[in-house]
Amino acid sequence: MKAIVQHEYGSPDTLRLEDVDRPDAGPGQVLVRVCAASVNAADWHIMRGDPKVARLQLGVRRPKALVRGRDFAGEVAEVGAGVTHVGPGDEVFGETGMADGAFAEYVRAPAGQVASKPAELTFEQAAAVPLAGCTALQALRDVARVQPGQRLLVNGASGGVGTFAVQIGKALGAHVTAVCSTRNAELVRSLGADDVVDSTAEDVVPARQRFDVILDLVGNRRLRELRRALTERGTLVLSGGGVFDGGSLVGPMALMISGGLVGRIVRQRIRPFSATPTTERLTALARLAESGQVRPVIDRTYALADVPAAVRYLESEHARAKVVVTVP
Ligand SMILES: NC(=O)c1ccc[n+]([C@@H]2O[C@H](COP(=O)([O-])OP(=O)(O)OC[C@H]3O[C@@H](n4cnc5c(N)ncnc54)[C@H](OP(=O)(O)O)[C@@H]3O)[C@@H](O)[C@H]2O)c1
Repeated sequence: MKAIVQHEYGSPDTLRLEDVDRPDAGPGQVLVRVCAASVNAADWHIMRGDPKVARLQLGVRRPKALVRGRDFAGEVAEVGAGVTHVGPGDEVFGETGMADGAFAEYVRAPAGQVASKPAELTFEQAAAVPLAGCTALQALRDVARVQPGQRLLVNGASGGVGTFAVQIGKALGAHVTAVCSTRNAELVRSLGADDVVDSTAEDVVPARQRFDVILDLVGNRRLRELRRALTERGTLVLSGGGVFDGGSLVGPMALMISGGLVGRIVRQRIRPFSATPTTERLTALARLAESGQVRPVIDRTYALADVPAAVRYLESEHARAKVVVTVP
C-alpha cells in the first residue's frame, strides 16, 4: 500500500510517499481503509522529534513508527479478536496514538480509539475530529468540568483544538471568550464565541475580567498572567503550545512544568494534561456533531502525496482550524 513514511527526524522534506506492507488487525485492533486523514500539531512534533526528550518514547535515533499521521476516517476492512463495537464495512473514525499512522491507504488502530462515524459528517469532516476534538472535550468536560454559566477563555481559539473548544464550551453552556489573530475573529464568532480578543494585544486578558476556566493552547503567556485572569478557585488547563513564528518549545514546556508545580500549592486548579482519544469521547463528539452543536472546520485539503506540503502549511503558516488529507 502507499504511505507517507519517514526514516529520519527532520523537516517535511524527510516525508516520502513509499510502498509498504499492508498491516493486519491483531487482537483488539481494527484495520481501516483510510478515506481521509487530518494533520495535527502532534504530527510535526513527531516528524521533528521535538521536544528531544520525547525521542525516549518515539525512538532515540529515528522514529520507531515508520508511517506518519494519527487521525483517520474510513471503512473497516477487518477486525481482530475481541472487537465487537465495529465490524467490516462500517464507516468509522479514530486515532492511532504513537503507532504507525494514518497517512496511508490502510491504518491499524486500537479498537478503544475507534468509533462509528456520524452519518452527518463526510469522511473529510470526520477525519478532522479525533485528536483535536478529543483534546478539547477532555480539557473542558473531563479536566475543567465546565458548568453552565461559567466564563471560559480559550487561548489559540482559531486552531485545530481551539475551534472545537469554542463550540464544546458553548455546548457545555459557558460564556466563551476566544483569543486569536484578528483575521480569524469572524471564524470564531461564527462558531459561537461571545467575545473575541486579538492575540497580538499586549494583555490577552480583557481588563478586570476573571475567568472560571482558561484553556491555553499556545503557551506564549506567563503563568502569573494566566493565573491573574483566573477566579480564586478557577481552573487553568495547559495543553502545551508550539514553535510559532520561529520561536522555541522551551517556553511552552516551562509553562507546563511550572504550572504543574505551582498547581500543587495554590487554591486555583492548574492542570497540564495529555489528551487520550477514546471510543467514548469520539462517540460523544459524534453526538455533538449529529445535534449540530459541533462542526469541524476545514481550512485546506491535500492529496496523500502532498502530505509534506500539508504539514509545512500547518507548521508555519497559521493554518485555520483543520488541514485534511484525502486518500483515494
Ligand atoms: N496536551 C495534549 O495532549 C495536546 C493535544 C493536542 C494538541 N496539543 C497542543 O496544543 C497546541 C494547539 O494545537 P492545535 O492543533 O490547535 O494547533 P494549531 O491548529 O496549529 O493552532 C495553533 C493556534 O495558535 C495560534 N497562534 C499561532 N501563533 C501564535 C502566536 N505567535 N501568538 C498567539 N497565538 C498564536 C493560532 O492562532 P492564529 O493563527 O489566529 O494566530 C492557532 O489558534 C499545539 O501546541 C499542540 O501540540 C496538545
